[in-house]
Amino acid sequence: MAKVTIRDNDGKQVAQFEANEDESLGTQAQDAGAPIPFSCGVGACRTCVARVNKGKEYLDEEAVGPKHITTEDNEVLTCICGLRKDVPKDAEIDIEVENL
Ligand code: FES
Repeated sequence: MAKVTIRDNDGKQVAQFEANEDESLGTQAQDAGAPIPFSCGVGACRTCVARVNKGKEYLDEEAVGPKHITTEDNEVLTCICGLRKDVPKDAEIDIEVENL
C-alpha cells in the first residue's frame, strides 16, 4: 500500500487513495474519482501520461504490461504503471496527469 495523490495538469489535487499492488495506478485513480483518460490502455500512446512529482522509486513502470513507447524519465503511463512489490507502508506518490 502507498498513499497516492493525483493532480490535474495545473497541479490541483483531484483524488487521493491508498493504492494496491494489483491494479494500474490509472485504474485505481479512476475508481477514486480522477477521470484519467485512457485510449489504448496498453502503454502504446500518451493519453494517460503523468509526471511524477514524488515517489518514482516506488513505481513499476510496467506493472501490468510492457511499455511500447518512450517517455521522459519523470513520466509514467498510468494505464500500465503500478506499485512495486516492496513498497513501504508509509510511501507517498504524487503524480500530475497531463490530460486532466
Ligand atoms: S492509454 Fe495509451 S499509454 Fe496509457
